[in-house]
Amino acid sequence: MLEKVQELVEKVEGYVPKSEEDLNNFRIKYLGKRGLLNNLFASFKKIPNEQKKEFGASINKLKNLVQEKIDTYIDSFEEEELVNDIDLTKPIGLDGLGSRHPISLVRNQIVEIFNRIGFIVSEGPEIEGDWHNFSALNLPQEHPARDMQDTFFIQTNPDVLLRTHTSSVQVRYMENNKPPIRTLSPGRVYRNEAISARAHCIFHQVEGLYIDENVSFADLKQTLLYFAKEMFGEKTKIRLRPSYFPFTEPSAELDIYWGLKNDSDYRITKGTGWLEILGCGMVDPNVLENCKIDSKKYSGFAFGMGIERIAMLKYGVNDLRLFFENDVRFLKQFSLI
Ligand code: DAH
Repeated sequence: MLEKVQELVEKVEGYVPKSEEDLNNFRIKYLGKRGLLNNLFASFKKIPNEQKKEFGASINKLKNLVQEKIDTYIDSFEEEELVNDIDLTKPIGLDGLGSRHPISLVRNQIVEIFNRIGFIVSEGPEIEGDWHNFSALNLPQEHPARDMQDTFFIQTNPDVLLRTHTSSVQVRYMENNKPPIRTLSPGRVYRNEAISARAHCIFHQVEGLYIDENVSFADLKQTLLYFAKEMFGEKTKIRLRPSYFPFTEPSAELDIYWGLKNDSDYRITKGTGWLEILGCGMVDPNVLENCKIDSKKYSGFAFGMGIERIAMLKYGVNDLRLFFENDVRFLKQFSLI
């Protein structure tokens, strides 16, 4: 009897199933109700007492071996079945296709509008030093205008900070390129502000910079009029309001005429019909000199706008936080734009 079990052990050890069906037959043959193992267990009674221990151990070994074989091969057949099920010629479903984020859409549109008149994209780091974010832009230490942009400092080093505006990129660009310059710098900026429907601690800006000989305020105005019409429609009217930025002189804010058609228009334009969309001005000669550009020979203009603000106006979004929540129900609406 013992030899017979030994023979079966060897047989099982060498067994390799050819198919799932083969493996199933193997299982029935050994583990089935009338299978070999049940027969062996039944013959246990007839075994002389002194052999019982050894016999018992060997049929247990056989049983475990059979189970191991089945466990080893069963998954491989399941996987094979899965692979065979994949139809590589099947057309893909489009249901799960994502959409571009509205901020990316507006960013790309702004870039495209300025590309058409020769502006090329430049980028800079989000972690900046004091020079590029403030000092070179005519904001020396202790300048009160620094308080307008609540800054996140990294660790306790006042010279390592998260940029508060993309104006830092115009400094880098002027340091590394000679006029004529026409560049557009989109990117993420950070300010230590309370999060609300109108403000966030992270947002996006686009900075524009144009430097050449004889650039005048008229060039700035015409460029911005072109932009406003391309972005908001051919009939868009603009106005420039005097303002103050340390890095431009004179400085202005650009408003577009939004109209006063309904209550919401009254609310967002504070009853004036006009909406501010960006800050701009003629680059201060100090900034040019800080970047080693001869301010006697060259002049230029700069402007900066918030992408979220443009996107809110364009798509009628009334809460800025929606852009950061990644709620697919919100994002899906932009899939066809
Ligand atoms: N950096 C300004 C801000 O973050 C925006 C700005 C205003 C940029 C005027 C400019 C500019 O280049 O000329 O509020």
